[in-house]
Amino acid sequence: MLQSFNHITKVNGELSLPGDKSISHRAVFFSSMAGGKSVIKNLSDGQDVASTISCFKELGADIKKETAHTIVIGKGFKQFNISQMPLDCGNSGTTARLITGLLAAQNFESTLVGDESLSKRPMDRVTIPLQQMGAKFESENNKLPLKISPAKNLQPVNYELPVPSAQIKSSIILAGLHCDGVTSIVENLPSRNHTEKMLGLEVRNNKLGNVVLVSKQNYPVPTEYFVPSDVSSAAFFVVLTLLTEKSQLRIKSVTLNETRTGYLKVLEEMGANINYEHISSSNGELYGDLVIENSQLQNVEIPASIVPNIIDEIPILSVAGLFASGNFTIKDAGELRKKESDRISSLCHNFILLGLEVDEFEDGFSLSGQIKNINVVFESFDDHRIAMAFGILSLLLKDGGKVNNFDCVAISNPNFIEQIKKITS
Ligand code: S3P
Repeated sequence: MLQSFNHITKVNGELSLPGDKSISHRAVFFSSMAGGKSVIKNLSDGQDVASTISCFKELGADIKKETAHTIVIGKGFKQFNISQMPLDCGNSGTTARLITGLLAAQNFESTLVGDESLSKRPMDRVTIPLQQMGAKFESENNKLPLKISPAKNLQPVNYELPVPSAQIKSSIILAGLHCDGVTSIVENLPSRNHTEKMLGLEVRNNKLGNVVLVSKQNYPVPTEYFVPSDVSSAAFFVVLTLLTEKSQLRIKSVTLNETRTGYLKVLEEMGANINYEHISSSNGELYGDLVIENSQLQNVEIPASIVPNIIDEIPILSVAGLFASGNFTIKDAGELRKKESDRISSLCHNFILLGLEVDEFEDGFSLSGQIKNINVVFESFDDHRIAMAFGILSLLLKDGGKVNNFDCVAISNPNFIEQIKKITS
């Protein structure tokens, strides 16, 4: 679907956003694994989390979505049912990578499939460490479809992550939850830590970085989860408010986990006026309201160490950078090429359409020059974060803009357009 955006002059009001996607995936995983009844409040209504739910229903978990909460009757340790058909992870890398670790430890065979985009994304990042634990896989080119064969008893592993990735770390943790001995995972740069927090895992700090420890002792039990609003979905509205004159917005009860708020720190360094109010915590996760005011922004250098923390927000940060003084540059972000689309290439393609000078590197890009072209039709590349970033950019252009294949926003935020309408004039 081609979505048109008209120029807006003001952002004002209050927003509540759907539950955080990363925390929602994990809440469905852990409640389906736990033997008994769990309750999840404010679960994400996006298609990615729906993919996780449908996989766990196939595996025998009873999951009922009611208006305000979701009730899950989980199966218990190694009690999942064999799935009669391939488990469809849709577009969701988190579903595919995490469930691989869980299924590697079951006593039955499974096959994972995904959509066209997910079937192009690498799975060896998780199968390599899991094979070291004794897991058995078959696939072509280390991509989906992936066949997972039962392994007798997985053995704990000590693994240093080659790239800072919460998906790899969590996949190994899920397998480690089925081992008697202790698995340790070292990450040199911190990636999002929801899995560790929600399972209450021990995390040590040594000269290599964080060391996460996990064993059977940490297997989840039934509980009640509250999922704060998605801080990554909030990023689009934060940037729109910052860049629109005389604007102010409150986004309620947003995840404030320090491994997710890097983009807010970058924006604050750029001159953004953001306040944090009504701070609270649940299941070890901090959350609170963001209060954002229109601000003058200037580009700053983005250090390599913060890149894993802002990886999902780089598309919208580059939009903020385009309207800030100075030139926007991002480096050390080669992982962007492994997301729902090759995000470096997708972003560069769209910025070139505006007539900007775009310098593309293997691990990033830089922007300079002025916007020359009007009435641009941007391409989403079927990537929800690219679609929303260029939707926001279109709202900021005097002549508006259009985004092709915009429907993919439903992956993380199906009501994006309604939310925009609610707060803009
Ligand atoms: C996610 C981890 C990140 C992120 C993705 C969600 C998660 O991927 O890009 O959108 O929930 O674990 P990597 O861990 O592979 O960087």
